[in-house]
Amino acid sequence: MSPTTTVEAFAPAKINLTLHVTGQRPDGYHLLDSLVVFADVGDTISAEDAPDTSLAVDGPRRAGVPVDDGNLVLKAARLMPGANAALTLTKRLPAASGIGGGSADAAATLRALHALTGAPLPDGRDVLALGADVPVCLEGRAVRMSGIGERLAPVPPLPPLPAVLANPGIEVPTPSVFKALARRDNAPMPDIPQFTTPGEIAEWLATQRNDLEPPARKLAPQITETLTALSALPGCQLARMSGSGATCFALFSTPEEAESAARSLRQNHPDWWTAATRLS
Ligand code: C5P
Repeated sequence: MSPTTTVEAFAPAKINLTLHVTGQRPDGYHLLDSLVVFADVGDTISAEDAPDTSLAVDGPRRAGVPVDDGNLVLKAARLMPGANAALTLTKRLPAASGIGGGSADAAATLRALHALTGAPLPDGRDVLALGADVPVCLEGRAVRMSGIGERLAPVPPLPPLPAVLANPGIEVPTPSVFKALARRDNAPMPDIPQFTTPGEIAEWLATQRNDLEPPARKLAPQITETLTALSALPGCQLARMSGSGATCFALFSTPEEAESAARSLRQNHPDWWTAATRLS
C-alpha cells in the first residue's frame, strides 16, 4: 500500500483596495477596475488521496457552509475530472462578505488538486465561470483586475500594509448591491504609482473609490457603523469597504498599531468578526 498523501492550500482573504465600476456588459455583468491584494488570514483546503471526491467542512466559521454541490469547492473540483481527493475545508472567513471566501476556497481547491495529482489547471474561461473573483484568487498576489474579473495586470511592488478587517456579522447579497448602483459609467483608476510606505498608499487610495460602498451602505447601515468605528481607531489612515461588503478594512503604518486597534475594536464589538493582518 502506498503512503497517504495530503496537500494543503491556503485560501487568503481577498481585499479590494479600490473597486471602480466602469460599465456594464449586455449580459448584466459589470466592468470593474480594482486594485486587489491578499491578507494573511484565510481558509485552508486540504486534499488527501482518495478514490472518489468528497468534502468535509470544519473550522470556526463552518456553520451554514454547504457540504453539497452548492459549495464552490466541489464545483471547482468538478473542473478537474479524475483528480479525486477527500477535501477538507477549514472555514475561518465569514461567508458572503466581500473578501472572496468562496472564490478563494475554489482557487485553493484547484491548486491543491493540481499539486496532489499533477492534473492540469482548468481553462481560464471555466475558472471565470465559477465566479468573477476566482481568477484573481488563483493569481493570489497583488494585481490590477479589470473586465468582469478575468483581466489581471501586474502592479508596481507594494510594501506590506498593516490592516484591520472587520465584519459586523451581516451578509449582503452581491447582486442587490450591483443593482442599487446609481451609475455604472464611473472613471477607471489612473496608473498606479510606485509606493514606498503604507502612508503613501493610504494617501493615494483616499483619492480613489469603492463604487459599491454607497449602495451597500444604503442596503446595510451596519456598514456605515463599521466604517465609523474603524476610522475612529488611533492610527487609522484609511477605512473602506471591500468588494460588495460587508467586510471593511482599515490601514495603519505599523503592525503594532494594527494589533492594538484590533484589540480595542474587539472589546467594543465582541460580536463582530475582526482580524489584524498584513495585506500584500
Ligand atoms: O461571478 P459571481 O457569482 O461572483 O457574481 C455574483 C453576482 O455579482 C453576479 O450574479 C452579478 O449579479 C454580480 N456581478 C456583476 N459584475 C461582476 C461580478 C459580479 O454584476 N463583475
